[in-house]
Amino acid sequence: MKMAGSVKIFGLCALLLLLGTARAAQAQSTERVIIDTDPGTDDALAILLALRSPELRVEALTVVAGNVMASVGLDNALKVVSLARRCDVPVAEGAQRPLHAKLNIEPFWNGPGGLGGAELPPSSCKPDPRFGPDVIIELVHEYPHEITIIGVGPETNLALAILKDPTIVPLVKRVILMAGSISGGNVNGAAEFNVYCDPDAADLVFRAGWPVTMVGLDVTEITLISSAQVDEIERSGGAEAKFAAAVARFQVGLYQGTGFSGGAIHDALAVGVAIDPTFVKLRALHIDVETEGRIARGETVANRLGTVDHVVDKGDHLETVGVDQVKPNAQVAVGIDSERFLKLFITRLSGSGAAIAGSKP
Ligand code: BDR
Ligand code: CA
Repeated sequence: MKMAGSVKIFGLCALLLLLGTARAAQAQSTERVIIDTDPGTDDALAILLALRSPELRVEALTVVAGNVMASVGLDNALKVVSLARRCDVPVAEGAQRPLHAKLNIEPFWNGPGGLGGAELPPSSCKPDPRFGPDVIIELVHEYPHEITIIGVGPETNLALAILKDPTIVPLVKRVILMAGSISGGNVNGAAEFNVYCDPDAADLVFRAGWPVTMVGLDVTEITLISSAQVDEIERSGGAEAKFAAAVARFQVGLYQGTGFSGGAIHDALAVGVAIDPTFVKLRALHIDVETEGRIARGETVANRLGTVDHVVDKGDHLETVGVDQVKPNAQVAVGIDSERFLKLFITRLSGSGAAIAGSKP
């Protein structure tokens, strides 16, 4: 009798140990992310994708002015986390304007309210009172070497965080940016919007010395969601799916109207790369941000040879006497398995297929 009792207790202990180990393993394999964002249509889709992905644990959303004013972005971010019933995720407002440039919001590309005209009820979540860049600094110190920053807006908040506390740089696991392009811009011939908005901030972020993955227009403009795929999300039912479909449908109309065959969902790809880096093919390149150019301000200039001429001033003329090596400062996405990414996006955003995870205990 006594023996049977001990066996039972032993069995229970073993089970608890197993469960504990499984939970610890899950916690370890879950990436802690901060999403720095300017929601924004595709930002909203990116946030929902992250919140519905078990591979990621969203530690905070920090909001920056960009697609919309920071106050509008804050409100939109709160509505999205509220829709996802994730008021446990801190949402903090950050920079109201770029470091030096004049703020350039873009109602044309984001529609009424910044969410493509998609309506959401008022948020039941409250904003975190801290300044966005301070939230980044605090979380990086709380979880050294564990935080991935996913930057999907102008890089102002990230730059402010580095300027205030440069010690965070070596403590960040990696920075994944929806930013830039090495094959032409979307604001004009040269510049992508996030970098164009605040080139000085982007310059600091690329030069900081932390591991940067650049997910730019080179891949986001060839990963286009179709009307049929939007229908699929909508048909799946559920409030989040309906909202995601409304936003994605706006993107399809907008991009088809400007010459594309489907809707770009740029920021969602940066989240996709955090979920599974194998969606993209990366190339190590040195990226310089043009901060002053007359035509190319905001361009991310890639050094394809990894060298610059070594030029010596000889008084009345200059002489090139050799070449100097430049080290890559970014892993640039130069190819993408669009089909596989879109499949994941649709499954995760659909009512039934979503893996809702990452909620804090
Ligand atoms: C980027 O700029 C914004 O319009 C989008 O939200 C995305 O972050 C694309 O250039
Ligand atoms: Ca954005």
